[in-house]
Amino acid sequence: MLNVLSGGHESPPPVWLMRQAGRYLPEYRRVREEAGSFLNLCMTPDLAAEVTLQPLRRFDLDAAILFSDILVVPYALGQRVWFEEGAGPRLDALAHPGDVARLSRARLHERLGPVYETLRQVRAELEPRVTLVGFAGAPWTLASYMLEGGTSRDFAIVKACAYREPQAFRFLVDMLVEVTAAYLGAQVEAGAEVLQLFDSWAGVLPAVELRRWCLEPTQRIVEAVKAVHPQVPIVVFPRGAGLLYQSYAIEAGADALGLDTAVPLDWAREQLQVRLPVQGNLDPAYLVVGGEAMTAAIGEILTALGRGPLVFNLGHGVLPQTPPDHVAELLATVRGERA
Ligand code: CP3
Repeated sequence: MLNVLSGGHESPPPVWLMRQAGRYLPEYRRVREEAGSFLNLCMTPDLAAEVTLQPLRRFDLDAAILFSDILVVPYALGQRVWFEEGAGPRLDALAHPGDVARLSRARLHERLGPVYETLRQVRAELEPRVTLVGFAGAPWTLASYMLEGGTSRDFAIVKACAYREPQAFRFLVDMLVEVTAAYLGAQVEAGAEVLQLFDSWAGVLPAVELRRWCLEPTQRIVEAVKAVHPQVPIVVFPRGAGLLYQSYAIEAGADALGLDTAVPLDWAREQLQVRLPVQGNLDPAYLVVGGEAMTAAIGEILTALGRGPLVFNLGHGVLPQTPPDHVAELLATVRGERA
């Protein structure tokens, strides 16, 4: 995986899956229950390390991704965060971006200490050939949860802030740029060998605003992390960025781009992979279906992208209804096919 992320070619490509730990695994559900709350699971290193390693025990994956959540950052800044069964994440929403004054960076690393401890434990237990991936949410996606108070249908609140009060919104985004760069740097010091920045809601913005609130803050985070840790590859995942994936390829400074499910494969090869390695982008719904449909979809990705630097992954996270056996089937298919 590290060879691919530095521009090398591997056939078959390295493979890992976004949300490879999670509710589709019965052993995860057991630990999740033991932990009580999801946040407690994220903040208890023994348990978080255990669920990070669970998919690696079952499947021959090339990377482990830290088990945590992007919302531990608002939590560490002092915002109340909880996870309701069926309702997804909830936060006591900031009424205004100026309310960041209520938040404090003073205890950031102290509150995130359990995350760093999880990384140290996982790295100590992981086989040397398995790459450990750390991650964070990008500022726009974090700001959307912080202002909306949870997942949104229309992003009306966060957009109203960004469009009506760009200066106040910039203040929040700038703070998240600094905090996120510091958080990712600390993850490297604790053992992360690759970093991924999730901008899950980039795709809801018009192009000019996407550039301002997603691409530019991403550039600044990449630059800040690279100033301290130039050797650590950074994968940027601007989900839904569409044609602006090309601007990310040219301008973000990332080592690789995570492709969402909708990115056309031939376009990705011609416009993106000529510039940098790509990661993706099997529709997680194929992993639910398995069989011939999944095999054909995997074949299309390998045919289009397998001759260049590729990390095989999904275009979004594993769905909870995924049969675990289909992950083994995916790995066998990716490794049986030669590009
Ligand atoms: O990939 C992994 O295996 C590592 C763990 C991981 C989680 N969340 C665990 C999780 C990662 C990398 C994330 C990132 C994350 N969290 C993102 C960016 C990626 C994406 O999906 O777009 C976002 C937007 C979040 C916020 C979040 N956390 C949502 C929307 C939800 C609810 C959705 C759901 O699947 O329930 C969560 C909760 C969450 N994060 C769960 C897991 C395993 C499920 C909680 C549970 O077990 O009850």
